[in-house]
Amino acid sequence: MTVTIVGSQLGDEGKGALVDLWGGDADVVVRYQGGDNAGHTVVEGGEEYALSLVPSGAVRGKVGVLGNGCVVNPRTLFEELGTLRERGLDPDVRVARRAHVIMPYHRRLDGIEEEAKADSDSGVEVGTTGRGIGPTYEDKAGRRGVRVGDLLDPDVLRDRLEYAVPQKRALIEDVYGLEAGEECDVDALHEEYAEFGRRLREEGMTVNCSAFLHERRAAGDNVMFEGAQGTLIDVDHGSYPYVTSSNPTAGGAATGTGVGPTVTGRGEVVGVVKAYLSRVGEGPMPTELDGDEREEALASDIREKGGEFGTVTGRPRRIGWLDVPMLRHAARVNGYTGLAVNHLDVLAGLEELRVGHAYELDGEERLSLPATTERWAECEPVLREFEPWPEVDWGAVADDGYDALPAAARDYLEYLEEQVDAPVHAIGVGPDREQTVVRTNPWA
Ligand code: IMP
Repeated sequence: MTVTIVGSQLGDEGKGALVDLWGGDADVVVRYQGGDNAGHTVVEGGEEYALSLVPSGAVRGKVGVLGNGCVVNPRTLFEELGTLRERGLDPDVRVARRAHVIMPYHRRLDGIEEEAKADSDSGVEVGTTGRGIGPTYEDKAGRRGVRVGDLLDPDVLRDRLEYAVPQKRALIEDVYGLEAGEECDVDALHEEYAEFGRRLREEGMTVNCSAFLHERRAAGDNVMFEGAQGTLIDVDHGSYPYVTSSNPTAGGAATGTGVGPTVTGRGEVVGVVKAYLSRVGEGPMPTELDGDEREEALASDIREKGGEFGTVTGRPRRIGWLDVPMLRHAARVNGYTGLAVNHLDVLAGLEELRVGHAYELDGEERLSLPATTERWAECEPVLREFEPWPEVDWGAVADDGYDALPAAARDYLEYLEEQVDAPVHAIGVGPDREQTVVRTNPWA
């Protein structure tokens, strides 16, 4: 049995909490894309864990795997593992030997390219997390990357670096006119990264991901695929170029781990939805609350109450009403079998409540997204009003179940189920795992 958890919006939907909740019945939790740009906050027994690379399942003592579709920064990996160990956890994390390694020159180039884009007035500045994600996937596609398996063999690592590093130096110096630094020192890189390879080997952390998962499944294990980021920042299905460089959508679970799509497709695919919308970085956001002072005040209330500041970067997130055309697109791309709606409590007590039901484009109403970002930016939201629900004792609601939710909140959820054509399996009404109304267990 497999369960795939996917972000339905722009990332930060609260997937970590769901992975943590349902990870209880999983034996193995696998990330299939992205790297230390992810920022999952997991709250367990009042303790908060901010993870950016290690799969959230590791907090609950599961085997956490970083699949071949991930890009892995070994510095971050060992730092996070060290912090978790200091706090008394003993995470079992395995890394695919086919995963690509984020090298210091990738981070440097991420920053350089963002600055160049900002200076160019081209409007294509992405507002990346600066973690080197894009440049690492570029090298993967360009067949000049360093893979985790290469770290295990110092000779292969040297060959890879001796080919790639002079190119990076030339890019930094000759194209951008900047000075290359220690990120382009082959010997220093070799020493540090061969040492990471030694540690990975010594701790038995690397796996042939596809074979490892095949064996675990053959032994009867439940496998959960933990998507990072969200559908609208998928490099194929998102708002290109304001996207990350991987495939957070459900298809990525197969290519990013070496488990066949017939396997993941027989399992559950749960789309995580935040009850409103937030966005880090650039790009269109038709339902954004930024039209006037009243809207900005509303956005600021939601931002504060929902803690809408980047986990990785601390940046304040842009806030908007729930965008339903976006969710119809996400449901189609991912093939959802169910939804989990988070942060319903954050909307409690508002004076007004709306959703973007459709868009208006060229005088016509549309129920889903246009394929180009420029056209998407021209969309005006067609808003629909909902009755706001009051603040209630959310802990008691979580204990008592779905029927204990305020009637107006149930109306909101049922509207969503109807529009997206998938049942709501769980509703998050607070940051702790216990503060979740669970209707269906996807493993059952
Ligand atoms: P990158 O993934 O660092 O290359 O950033 C590309 C875009 O994806 C930027 O707009 C980031 O803000 C966004 N992004 C990357 N990771 C996350 C995430 O975990 N949550 C929300 N946005 C993200």
